[in-house]
Amino acid sequence: MRTLRFGRMDIAKGNLILVNPLHPFRGDMSKDCLVSVRPNTTHILLERQAAKMLAEVTAFLGCEHQIVPVSGYRTMREQQTIYADSLHEHGEDFTRKYVAIPGCSEHQTGLAIDLAENKDDIDFIRPDFPYTGIWGRFREFSIQYGFTERYPAGREQITHIAHEPWHFRYVGYPHSQMMKERALTLEEYTDYLKQYPYRGAHLRFKRNKRDFEIFYVPVQRDHETIIEISDGVPYQVSGNNEDGIVVTLWRDR
Ligand code: DAL
Ligand code: ZN
Repeated sequence: MRTLRFGRMDIAKGNLILVNPLHPFRGDMSKDCLVSVRPNTTHILLERQAAKMLAEVTAFLGCEHQIVPVSGYRTMREQQTIYADSLHEHGEDFTRKYVAIPGCSEHQTGLAIDLAENKDDIDFIRPDFPYTGIWGRFREFSIQYGFTERYPAGREQITHIAHEPWHFRYVGYPHSQMMKERALTLEEYTDYLKQYPYRGAHLRFKRNKRDFEIFYVPVQRDHETIIEISDGVPYQVSGNNEDGIVVTLWRDR
C-alpha cells in the first residue's frame, strides 16, 4: 500500500478547487506553473496542464483561427483593475454579474480561460462564444480534455455569476465528464463527491476503456490526515478549497 499525507494547505491546491464568493482563492500560483496559451498570444497564461489540454483540443478540432483566447490567468491586482474599471464603465449590477470579486476569481487560479469567436471588436468581459458551429463542437469536445462550461444558464443562484458561454474551467478528466453527465456545476459536484468518502463506498465507473475510482477525504485542520491507496495505481489528488481532498484513481482495462 502507498501512504498519502494531507495537511490544511493541500485543500487549496489542485484542478478541482472551488473558487467563488464563498470560497476565495487562498493558494499561490507560481509563475513556474504558468505557460502561454499560444505562441502568438504570449501575454495570456494558463496553468501548464490546462494549457496543454487546451492546445490539444484546439489542434484536434483545427479551430485555431475561429477560436481565440481573450483572458486566462489574472493576478489579484489585475482582477481588482478589471473590477474597478467595470464598475466605472458598466455599473454595479453588471459588474456583480460578470466580474468575480477580487480574490474570488477562477482566473486567479490559472485554470480558467475566456474564449471568443474570432471577429473584430471582441468584448473583453463578455466575448461572443456561440452554441452552434465550431464553438458548439469545442464545448462538446473540450469535455474529453477536462474542461467544463463553468457558468451555465439557469444556475446563477448556485454559481453567483451570470450565464457566461465563453468561460471554461479546467477540472481534468474524468471530472469534466461526470459534471456533464450529471449536469452539475462545480459547486454541486464538490458536494456530490462528499457522498463518496474515503471510509465508505467510493464512486466507481468505466469510461474510455478505463476504470475510475473517486473518493473524498475530509482533512483535519489541526493535524495531518493519512490515507492508504493501492500500490502501482496511477492517481491524482486535488483539494476542493473547502474542507478536503478528492482522490482519483484509474486503471487501464
Ligand atoms: N468573469 C468571471 C466570473 C471572473 O471574473 O472570474
Ligand atoms: Zn472568465
